[in-house]
Amino acid sequence: MKKILITGACGQIGTELTHTLRKLYGVENVVATNIRRGSSETVENEGIFEELNVTDYNRMLELVKKYEIDTIMNLAALLSAVGEKNPQLLWDVNMNGLYNCLEVARETGAMVFTPSSIAAFGPSTPADLTPQDTIQRPTTIYGVSKVAGELLCDYYFNKFGVDTRGVRFPGLISYSALPGGGTTDYAVHIYYEALKNKKFTCNLAADTYMDMMYMPDAIESIIQLCEAEGSKLVHRNAFNITAMSFCPEDIKKAIQKHIPEFEMDYEIDEVKQKIANSWPNSLDDSCARAEWGWNPKFDLEKMTADMIEKLTIKLDIK
Ligand code: SER
Repeated sequence: MKKILITGACGQIGTELTHTLRKLYGVENVVATNIRRGSSETVENEGIFEELNVTDYNRMLELVKKYEIDTIMNLAALLSAVGEKNPQLLWDVNMNGLYNCLEVARETGAMVFTPSSIAAFGPSTPADLTPQDTIQRPTTIYGVSKVAGELLCDYYFNKFGVDTRGVRFPGLISYSALPGGGTTDYAVHIYYEALKNKKFTCNLAADTYMDMMYMPDAIESIIQLCEAEGSKLVHRNAFNITAMSFCPEDIKKAIQKHIPEFEMDYEIDEVKQKIANSWPNSLDDSCARAEWGWNPKFDLEKMTADMIEKLTIKLDIK
């Protein structure tokens, strides 16, 4: 990776990835792009920034050629819950965006990183310690696009030799930018509400287990996988990775250790609950550990301490 272009750079992952890559690879070697300006001051002003709608192939090709890009990190996407409200738009952005990245990479020789998700699994997948290679019959348009994306990336590698790589991200928790309409978002919002109001209304049932990860580990996984020796990768595009599995009651208790007066009640969102129920409780990430050394640093306790510390500063809580 010498010159990197990031799509969706102002999103939840992109904001932090852009910042870290600029530090590691040099401000002049990272091109942050987003559908429009006005979403993130730091991403847009601390280095190179270009407007890019990922469904516009010609514009993507122009930017990749202009900056002599060798790595495309494709983070522009709609998430699971918002996708159920507009499946056509999700398909357009998530699938055509990825297709354009792959086609541009085929033409220019760039590498493509694109995330898959726990959403690539469905109700018929084994829910506990979900294996790397297993049944994938998701029931959301987001999940369908993720399975199609995993297969398309495999295809471009096998057919055209495009160096494609990817992980199946669990719910991602962070304090810089908010997630945009996912099923796991409650695990971000809960920290903001705990600090601001000492109470939170959870939209998933108390015992809904899902895999989760703190953003520093997620960023590390992208860099580690992209820097890994390609010949060692067996599962190039869809590595199960996880850092923790918890339910709303678990995260509530973890927060109460820092804010004892914190209270939580429940108002179930039926759409999100159905999606969450169709996803695994916990993934088996042994292939990622074996093939490229995946090893997360944050568990629920450590993440909670850090989130509370960082958000206390960000929200100016006295
Ligand atoms: N966090 C995502 C979502 O909830 C899963 O990839 O949609």
